[in-house]
Amino acid sequence: MKKRILSGVQPSGNLHIGNYLGALKNWVTLQKDYESFFCIVNLHAITLPQEPEKLKRKTLELARIYLAAGIDPKVSTIFVQSDVPEHAELAWVLTCISRMGELERMTQFKDKSKGKGESVGVGIFTYPVLMASDILLYKANLVPVGQDQKQHLELTRDLAERFNRDYGETFVIPEPYIPPVGAKIQSLQDPMKKMSKSDQDPNGSIFLLDDADVIRKKIKRAVTDSGTEVKFDKSRPAINNLLTIYQLVTDLPAEECENRFVGKGYGYFKTELAEAIIEFLRPFQQKVRSYDEQELIETLKSGAEKARSVACQTLREVYEKMGLNYAS
Ligand code: AMP
Ligand code: TRP
Repeated sequence: MKKRILSGVQPSGNLHIGNYLGALKNWVTLQKDYESFFCIVNLHAITLPQEPEKLKRKTLELARIYLAAGIDPKVSTIFVQSDVPEHAELAWVLTCISRMGELERMTQFKDKSKGKGESVGVGIFTYPVLMASDILLYKANLVPVGQDQKQHLELTRDLAERFNRDYGETFVIPEPYIPPVGAKIQSLQDPMKKMSKSDQDPNGSIFLLDDADVIRKKIKRAVTDSGTEVKFDKSRPAINNLLTIYQLVTDLPAEECENRFVGKGYGYFKTELAEAIIEFLRPFQQKVRSYDEQELIETLKSGAEKARSVACQTLREVYEKMGLNYAS
């Protein structure tokens, strides 16, 4: 039996190359060896206010992005979180075994609640419990994500272990899969900050749907460090980040990337980097608009059916163990 993976992205904001290089690219590789579930986590998106029509459009757009990135619906299950009600049901059960302290320690919660005081949304607080539910429902062995999700995965493991200890062996304890290169792509405008969908400044990110001229402009404007050499060097975070992006989009060994720019300077490097990103995104961008909407909806429907057949078995098992399956 193949081992399982599950991962997800929120259908809010615009996906950037950090999402692609840190997450999606690895899903495509892993789907060959694992039974794979890729979720569009719209229930996570509503932890912040969303316009209903826009959320719907963004959900379908994300499905197109999954397909264009190379997720094959014949091999992997692609589905929308809210189409499988067991996610919200298991999340409640897990909420009841979670502790305030462990959720308060989540750095993402701390960042998102900064300055909001008592008005911070409860959904932002319990967000990682819903994420744990997504993963544990499918008994996933591996969860491919970027570095920023590592702490949420540790919480997922703790909740699974707690449940197994209190109610008997039920959940698989999942491992994170964090890629060795690309797990944390930084902002083009501030190399100390991660490239983020919620960044107010669009110049900090290359979005997957940016056209060639926009990409050239953003790379031209990207901040650099003092010095002139194009080398991997953690003490020069801006160039290190740009070179990491170059390495990932060209798939070249690190040394070869450096060799190409010996004695060439930042200007030349930036021009080459912009063209490499444009080339890398070209086939993806051509595909992304090519899917028929009706077919897309059919793919999501059959994905939800497949996902549900697994999710409802796990939930039934959980309810039985907790003495909750009274009438069924
Ligand atoms: P999000 O943008 O928070 O919905 O993230 C979706 C996926 O992309 C998650 O697996 C994140 O860990 C990953 N991700 C987000 N930002 C970055 C980044 N700057 N570098 C690498 N991976 C990222
Ligand atoms: N929290 C993740 C993010 O912001 C998205 C997510 C929700 C997820 N559920 C998941 C990722 C389950 C992996 C597995 O990126």
